[in-house]
Amino acid sequence: MRMHLAVLLFVALLSVATFALDNGVMRVPPMGWLAWERFRCDIDCEHDPKNCISENLFIDMADRLAEDGWRELGYVYVNIDDCWSSMKRDDKGRLQADPKRFPGGIHKLSRYLHDRGLKLGIYGDMGTHTCGGYPGTTLDKIDLDAQTFADWEVDMFKFDGCYSNATEQALGYPLMSKALNATGRPIGYSCSWPAYHGGLPPKVNYTQLGEICNLWRNYGDIQDSWDSVLNIINWFFENQEVMISAAGPGKWNDPDMLIVGDFGLSMDQSRSQMALWAIMAAPLFMSNDLRTISSKARTILQNKMAISINQDPMGIQGRRIVKEKIGIDVFWRPLSNNASALVFFSRRNDMPYRYQTTLSKLNYTTGTYKIYDVFTDKTMILKDSTGFVVSVNPTGVVMWYVSAPATRNLRQFHKGGRLRGSAHDDENANPRVFL
Ligand SMILES: *[C@@H]1O[C@H](CO)[C@@H](O)[C@H](O)[C@H]1NC(C)=O
Ligand SMILES: *[C@@H]1O[C@H](CO)[C@@H](O)[C@H](O)[C@H]1NC(C)=O
Ligand SMILES: *[C@@H]1O[C@H](CO)[C@@H](O)[C@H](O)[C@H]1NC(C)=O
Ligand SMILES: *[C@@H]1O[C@H](CO)[C@@H](O)[C@H](O)[C@H]1NC(C)=O
Ligand SMILES: *[C@@H]1O[C@H](CO)[C@@H](O)[C@H](O)[C@H]1NC(C)=O
Repeated sequence: MRMHLAVLLFVALLSVATFALDNGVMRVPPMGWLAWERFRCDIDCEHDPKNCISENLFIDMADRLAEDGWRELGYVYVNIDDCWSSMKRDDKGRLQADPKRFPGGIHKLSRYLHDRGLKLGIYGDMGTHTCGGYPGTTLDKIDLDAQTFADWEVDMFKFDGCYSNATEQALGYPLMSKALNATGRPIGYSCSWPAYHGGLPPKVNYTQLGEICNLWRNYGDIQDSWDSVLNIINWFFENQEVMISAAGPGKWNDPDMLIVGDFGLSMDQSRSQMALWAIMAAPLFMSNDLRTISSKARTILQNKMAISINQDPMGIQGRRIVKEKIGIDVFWRPLSNNASALVFFSRRNDMPYRYQTTLSKLNYTTGTYKIYDVFTDKTMILKDSTGFVVSVNPTGVVMWYVSAPATRNLRQFHKGGRLRGSAHDDENANPRVFL
């Protein structure tokens, strides 16, 4: 009894056929830039003007997104995290930006972004204070704060959970969802709620989260190290059955920011993060310095095929299908147009490992497949039964876009003696990129 691709796909489709938050946004995982991991709560603009949390930092990142080819690939959000606000609410009780570091105010910043085809995200906290000690949003402030963000034409809101208890959170996260909706402005809603409760049922109700939030942080914060990335990968795939059934268009698990382009990852580890975030249908928020990023890191983050796999419109989160004792894992994600993605990942620390398998061992149905190697741009044709070898570097990946059996398309192509279907069905000559 082999469970074939089609069966897995069917099961996966059933699992996403539940309700998602109906605000029309984030039908594919959101992409952009988020300040936290790289810039934290550096508010010392006097001594560190380039790195401090200020208007200039966000304007610089917006300029880079708009001018260096990021925006066209989908990286459109510029997200402020903690430490943006004044320590005091204004005389009407509203949150306000720190006037020294954000002299133009948040609304001017959002207009600057919108003029460049970008979107603004902002941060708040369900509780008395933010994690950094700034004014929080207690239950009585939820409507006011939602309206303030809408007045500023903010496009996304991350709601952290420091300084509140489980009872308040169980009230606050759904109330904020209602309050954002009531403003009439579509605002992507990121909930840190599950991360405060271990990220797993029965404490976390993913059905409810999918109804009230567009994305949620399930697990701890990412740090600038491979240890941190590996720890996150392990947690998400050990709990993959829960994660996969929670995710779908408009509702995403968030394993946290991409740290590609920072200090902690080698190029192989950077490709591993990019590949596995694509398999996980994860939001792609880079936290790096786009002013000084290396061209190698940029090439990884701007890989069109990895992005199109991440952004697949079916929005089915992928899974680990093999975990070999020798330290090789294989991951698989079903994609539109009967395609799929495969990632071969090495946990080894000796040398490139030559991993041998066949597509039929990976439960692909009988047929001939077109393989596109995401990071080398090489292509090949492979029968399900043909043995192949991939060479996987230590802590690295090989990532493939696998398109549907060529035989099916060839048959379609010749049906009735004339051309059928769109140019895309044309023998899968080129993998589809949704850009
Ligand atoms: C292939 O399917 C069988 C039967 O459902 C399953 O036991 C096995 O784990 C699957 N293998 C892979 C690599 O998915
Ligand atoms: C508010 O919710 C309703 C009902 O789910 C939905 O139709 C509408 O688009 C939502 N509006 C916004 C701005 O999110
Ligand atoms: C949670 O906090 C509220 C407000 O401080 C308090 O009234 C309530 O007793 C707390 N609940 C629990 C379970 O600690
Ligand atoms: C989880 O949330 C859903 C939707 O709000 C609700 O119908 C269900 O009863 C909840 N499940 C549990 C175990 O509380
Ligand atoms: C996918 O494959 C199935 C079964 O082989 C076929 O019926 C369907 O039309 C294909 N879908 C696409 C989008 O090619």
